[in-house]
Amino acid sequence: MADREGTPLFIIDHDVIRANYEKLRKYLPRVMPYFAMKANPEPQIIQTLFPYGGGFDVASLQEYQTVLENVPAAALRGHKRNDFIWDRIIVANTIKPIATLKEITGYNTLMTFDNEYELDKIKEHCSDAGLVCRLRVQNVGSVVELSSKFGVEPGDAANLIDKAFNRGLSVEGLSFHVGSQCCNIENYLNALEASAQIFKEVRQRGHKLRLLNIGGGFPVPYDRTVPPFEELATKLRVEIDRLFPKSVEVVAEPGRFLVATAAMLIVEVVGKSFRDDKWVYYVNDGVYGTLSGVIFDHIPYHFNAFKRGDKKLSAVVGPTCDALDTVSTSEMLPELNIGDLLYVKNCGAYTTGSATTFNGFPRTKILNINA
Ligand SMILES: Cc1ncc(COP(=O)(O)O)c(C=O)c1O
Repeated sequence: MADREGTPLFIIDHDVIRANYEKLRKYLPRVMPYFAMKANPEPQIIQTLFPYGGGFDVASLQEYQTVLENVPAAALRGHKRNDFIWDRIIVANTIKPIATLKEITGYNTLMTFDNEYELDKIKEHCSDAGLVCRLRVQNVGSVVELSSKFGVEPGDAANLIDKAFNRGLSVEGLSFHVGSQCCNIENYLNALEASAQIFKEVRQRGHKLRLLNIGGGFPVPYDRTVPPFEELATKLRVEIDRLFPKSVEVVAEPGRFLVATAAMLIVEVVGKSFRDDKWVYYVNDGVYGTLSGVIFDHIPYHFNAFKRGDKKLSAVVGPTCDALDTVSTSEMLPELNIGDLLYVKNCGAYTTGSATTFNGFPRTKILNINA
């Protein structure tokens, strides 16, 4: 493929996305996934996931519109448009610009909130929205922490929900996010307990919540220390059934879990040097490009060679004129020549979405296979 398409090349295998989706449904049959587009905004992924009947978690007007542009026109014809948006999109960013609210008013969009100022904005500019109150929950042991920025303290949630109802808005349920690449199941279990408590409190105040959104965070096996998804999901399933009656609709916002293992990056060695007694290979994609996840997502990426030979500790750096563009200083690689190829596995999440064109290096070509 690299011979035919050139390098660098980012290959997304849609069969793997389907398999990941089916695994999630198999182990969490009560949980309807809304794919978090943030993890990988490639439009073809929307087309792959649409037929499964799940939804899409969007954070901006552009992501919202990308979903609408990539589902079959029949799903959006006439009154079906509102049904589609209501059933299949959630704006999971608790903070939405007024211009975005104005643009999406009239479509019954589900959206999260975690403070009163947002309620005022929604009341004025998008009062037909269905609201989901996001809780601040424990993110301990997750690679990417989110609770410092989002979520109302569980103890304040019932009051905030009251304020929404008092403004004539409709609150559908609760959401939380335990942090991305969550390797600590306690985060989920504590969040579920807190949510069940708030469901009760809200009921005692005369309102009924019908939706629970358990967010994302499902971990990807980047290395052997990551607990297996099956184990996590089995416990989650039992706890959800114990704490929430069947009448509560449960959804999730998986991003990483659906796409991380579905993509591979192929890079080419464009330069080499021997510095400080160590081989340094300069490759044609790096930290400012596809492997931006090293910085933004805190994930170390590793390189594999296609050729064999005695392996030596080596560094692999990107193509820009910046030393921050160092992907790894500890790769075990055979001695490589200019023109040799390397590949990086499991890089489908939080990589292309945050890539830049810094220093004039264009974004890496994306090749969709089995789409
Ligand atoms: C609101 C929200 N939902 C879902 C996700 C997806 O999370 P993950 O990729 O861990 O499944 C994120 C990612 O950070 C998020 O911020």
